[in-house]
Amino acid sequence: MKGIILAGGAGSRLYPLTLVASKQLQPVYDKPMVYYPLTTLIEGGIREICLISTPQDLPRFQQLLGDGAAWGLRIEYREQARPEGIAQAFLIAASFIGPDAVTLILGDNVFYGGESFQKTFGEFNTGATIFGYHVKDPERYGVVEFDASGQAISIQEKPKEPKSNYAVPGLYLFDNHVVEITRNLKPSARGELEITDVNVEYMRRGLLRVRRLGRGFAWLDAGTSSSLHEASAYVQTIEKRQGIKIGCPEEAAFRRNFLSLAQLESLAEKMPRCEYREYLVNEVIAEAKRLAN
Ligand code: TTP
Repeated sequence: MKGIILAGGAGSRLYPLTLVASKQLQPVYDKPMVYYPLTTLIEGGIREICLISTPQDLPRFQQLLGDGAAWGLRIEYREQARPEGIAQAFLIAASFIGPDAVTLILGDNVFYGGESFQKTFGEFNTGATIFGYHVKDPERYGVVEFDASGQAISIQEKPKEPKSNYAVPGLYLFDNHVVEITRNLKPSARGELEITDVNVEYMRRGLLRVRRLGRGFAWLDAGTSSSLHEASAYVQTIEKRQGIKIGCPEEAAFRRNFLSLAQLESLAEKMPRCEYREYLVNEVIAEAKRLAN
């Protein structure tokens, strides 16, 4: 399974923050936003990742994440010249995807909680798996309708009159047919290749699974000033209370055995003295050493 992080777009709702740095580089509490979706992919066991962004912003992501080798990953970069739709990612990254299945995650989506979430990646085989999450304002998203048996029966993009409160979060797992399906899509009325149209096509073929994310699971998108602030407040609350970090790629890579303890120690040593380094040294590394003895 390969992974794509889509981190382009205009970010107009975060103006003027996005005049100088893209939305996905803005801080969510104590780290750049893109660390969160990156960590979700690592937790799902994905090591080969392609980050897509605008021509202006791509160099900054490269500066931040490099080729991924330090975290036991391989990160490639591709440009999206104009924001012509989320599904365009599969065309831009077709050579990266090759013959494999692919997970697409949006660069401004923060996921937290639920072990079964990670199991979904491990169990994925064919077709498509997406998620449904109960929200107050479904009309802002793709909305999925379920029948009485829990089977997904329709998906609509930003409907004026939503048929349910279940929004589709920005995390989608597809088999390799996604490239061919996207090649045959026509742009929507707003001129975009719509991810909802990809999902609808999988549903038409009888190959779409929609897993409902239950209570206790957090999905936040950080696309507006207030949702950005709420995401930061949420991360701060959990981190302070539990003494753990959300969205820490070094820790996730270590827990997934992409990095050895020695490699993690050497990464931490290179960091300036800061709370992030202290966490890795005093919590993650210290605990691993205690358990090894
Ligand atoms: P949006 O939040 O819908 O769009 P945006 O980021 O351009 O923001 P705004 O509406 O404030 O101008 O996009 C959701 C995510 O998908 C976000 O992380 C950006 C990304 N995206 C792309 O990278 N390319 C695209 O063509 C589209 C439509 C979105």
